[in-house]
Amino acid sequence: MCYFISPFYFRVPFHLKDYFDDRDKFTIEVGFGNGDFLVNLASQEKEHGYLGVEISSRSVLKLTRKLKSHGLFNVRTIKFDAFLLFSIIEPAHSVYRVIYNFPDPWPRHPERRVTARKNLLLIHRILRRDGKLYLATDADVLKEDIIKNASGIFDVYEQEEPFFPFYTKYQTRWVQEGREIRYYRLLPLAFYGKYPELKYDKGGRMAHVIMEITGEREIPDVLPKRLKEKTVLFYIERPYRRGSDFLFPVLVKEEGFVQKTYFRVYFTDKEARIVLDDTSYLVVTEGIRRAMAYLRDLFLKTGGYSVKRDTTIV
Ligand SMILES: C[S@@+](CC[C@H](N)C(=O)[O-])C[C@H]1O[C@@H](n2cnc3c(N)ncnc32)[C@H](O)[C@@H]1O
Repeated sequence: MCYFISPFYFRVPFHLKDYFDDRDKFTIEVGFGNGDFLVNLASQEKEHGYLGVEISSRSVLKLTRKLKSHGLFNVRTIKFDAFLLFSIIEPAHSVYRVIYNFPDPWPRHPERRVTARKNLLLIHRILRRDGKLYLATDADVLKEDIIKNASGIFDVYEQEEPFFPFYTKYQTRWVQEGREIRYYRLLPLAFYGKYPELKYDKGGRMAHVIMEITGEREIPDVLPKRLKEKTVLFYIERPYRRGSDFLFPVLVKEEGFVQKTYFRVYFTDKEARIVLDDTSYLVVTEGIRRAMAYLRDLFLKTGGYSVKRDTTIV
């Protein structure tokens, strides 16, 4: 029994039915935190298929363990950006409920909030006509956003009492502190406009660089580095040897992905090649390409190489 859906293997578009044998009523909980709420809900309503989507690995690990110990077979977890996932779920209007308890308020990044118009529309696209979006928050910015941004696409019901009989971790904390929590149920209205589309780069093509050796076979002395290029953050560390190969540990963080891999550099008589050491677990994203292009430039700087073929295209 596998509870975790690996983002490196799932098919795009994402069909919920592919991951549940015999369910056709789906509830998605976004940002499930410690997962207790989802465990409680899924234990109560066994006929639903549940998907918990979280960007935190720790949370995914915690919940996946709890599911196992509770023997809950109707829940799957996925470590992914919820909005990116919503943009690839097909068919449209196939999800019964989306629940997001105590979303991050992102005070300085309104476009990242679940209550941004774009994100509300992404949720609207996947919800059935009789579907529901549940939100709970103590944050004024989110309360204000809901009124403003849901207008015309959702009917909004607001109340001071929770809709569900179990608390989340944050809920318990904020109730103890006496914060003003509001609970919302949003019912989709007919929408005839265009839904937003998020770019999802599944990679497809491999990334590699072939360089002709024109001088010394020098290996650049790469120090642990944290580099930020546009929206991509990556770290490349000093290489270590495996036989005659050089392996550069690489960590790449970008929207929707955190990936750890190795760039392998190996030599033939006339060439040096930079390749992905293990593509099977990787999605070849823009971040992976940028990091490889950075390593390529370090090689070129030594003066001993010239590029013959390059698929990093950045
Ligand atoms: C404030 S916590 C609330 C946790 C839990 N719902 C609770 O009430 O205790 C927000 C959670 O949302 C997750 N999160 C934030 N942005 C997300 C995104 N775009 N996709 C999936 N999860 C996200 C965070 O990792 C975090 O666990």
